Amino acid sequence: MRVGGVLQVPGDKSISHRALMLAALGAGASRVRGLLQSLDVLSTAQVLRALGVPIPALSEDFVVEGVGLRGLQPPTVDLDCGNSGTTARLMAGIVAGSPLSARFIGDASLSRRPMRRVKEPLTQMGARFECEGPGDTLPMTIHGARLLGMTWHAETASAQVKSAILLAGLVADVPVEVHEPVPTRDHTERMLMARGVDVRTDGGAVTLVPSATLNAADQLVPGDPSSAAFFAALAALADTGDLALNDVCINPTRAGAFRVLRRMGARVTYEQTRAEGGEEVARVIVGPGTLRGTEIGGAEVPSLIDELPILACVAACAEGETRVTGAHELRVKESDRITAIVDNLRAVGAEAEELPDGFVVRGVGRRPFAGRVTTHGDHRIAMAFGVLGAIPGSAIIIDDPACAAVSFPTFWEELSRVVV
Ligand code: S3P
Repeated sequence: MRVGGVLQVPGDKSISHRALMLAALGAGASRVRGLLQSLDVLSTAQVLRALGVPIPALSEDFVVEGVGLRGLQPPTVDLDCGNSGTTARLMAGIVAGSPLSARFIGDASLSRRPMRRVKEPLTQMGARFECEGPGDTLPMTIHGARLLGMTWHAETASAQVKSAILLAGLVADVPVEVHEPVPTRDHTERMLMARGVDVRTDGGAVTLVPSATLNAADQLVPGDPSSAAFFAALAALADTGDLALNDVCINPTRAGAFRVLRRMGARVTYEQTRAEGGEEVARVIVGPGTLRGTEIGGAEVPSLIDELPILACVAACAEGETRVTGAHELRVKESDRITAIVDNLRAVGAEAEELPDGFVVRGVGRRPFAGRVTTHGDHRIAMAFGVLGAIPGSAIIIDDPACAAVSFPTFWEELSRVVV
C-alpha cells in the first residue's frame, strides 16, 4: 500500500466545544475560525442556543455575540447533548453555576455514561442534581445555585470533570481548585487564561481565581490530533510513501499517540512547529517503519485515551505483544471500548484479549483482515477498523460507518483519497 498527500485535519473537537462555550459566556463578540463542524459540536451549539445564546450557523469563520457570565436564559426545552459527553459534562458545570434549571438528555450511548463524576463535585459546591437514569445517568436535571468555592481531589483523571468544576467556578464567581491524579488535556486552562481569567497550574493542581467578566477573544481552532491519529496510523501501516497532516495540535497532553507510533517504529516528524490559537501546532509527517509491539500505561494514558482504538489496530500489524493497562476509563466512553476493541479485533482475525483496565494484542505483522465490525455507534471504533480495512486484501465490513460524523464527517472520503 502506498500513501501520499497532504491532509487538512478537521478542527480539534475538545477545543471546538470550549470555543463555543467560552464565546457564549464572553463579554462581547468572539470570532471563531476552523471550528470542527461535526455532530458533537453541533450538540454544544444547540444546547447553548437553548440557553438563549445567539450561536449562528456553524461555518469555517463566524462570530458569536457573547451573553456574558450571567446572561444565560432558562431553557424551555431539554438540553439535548446527543452523543457528546463533553457537551453534557462541561455544560453541567456552566448550568450548575447559573441561576436556572435545565434537564439534560442524550442518545442511547450517552444515556449509559456516568454523570456521578460531575454530580458529586457540583453538588458539593451547592447545585442540586436529579438523575432519572440508573446509577446517575441521563436524563438529568440540574438546579443551578449560588455555589460555594471548593477544592476537589479527583480520583479519575478526567479533563471533562476538571473543566466542569473550573467552568462552575467561573460562572458562579467562586474560587475552585482541582487536583488530578495524572495531568489531563489542559485546553480549558489555556483558553480561560487567554480570556483574562486567573488560572494557575502547580504540579497536579489547577486553581481558578474568580473574575467578574470573561473577555471575548478570537479563537483559531487547530487540527485535531485524535483525528490525525487515524491517518498517522494509516501511514505507519503503508509500504511506501508518507502523509503530511497539516496544522495539528501537538499539545503534550494530547500527542501521546504520535509518541507511541514513533516508539513502535513508524517515522513521525514535526515540521513548522509554532504557537497558534494558544496551542503548539505542527505539520506532522508520518511514514512506514518496521512496527514492534509496545507497553502503554500509567501517566501516558490520558495523552492518548481516545487514540487507543487505532493504536490497538496498529498493534495487530506489529511484531510482538502490545499491552495497555491503566485505561479503565475506556469502559465508559461512547462504547465499552475495551470490549469493542478486543471483540472486533478477534472478529477480523487478530489475536487480542481483555484486561480489566486495558487489553493485550498479539501482533504477527501486517496482513489482510476480514470480518464484520460492530461499532456500537462509536465513531472511533468505526474509523480505527476503517484504517485496518484499507490494508490491501482486507475485507472488513463496518456496521455503521456513518457514525464517524460525530467527530470527523469527511473521514471516509479522505481515507480513499490518500491511499494512492
Ligand atoms: C475530553 C476529555 C476526555 C476525552 C474526550 C474529550 C474533553 O474525556 O476522552 O473525548 O474534551 O475534555 P474524559 O474527561 O472523560 O477523560
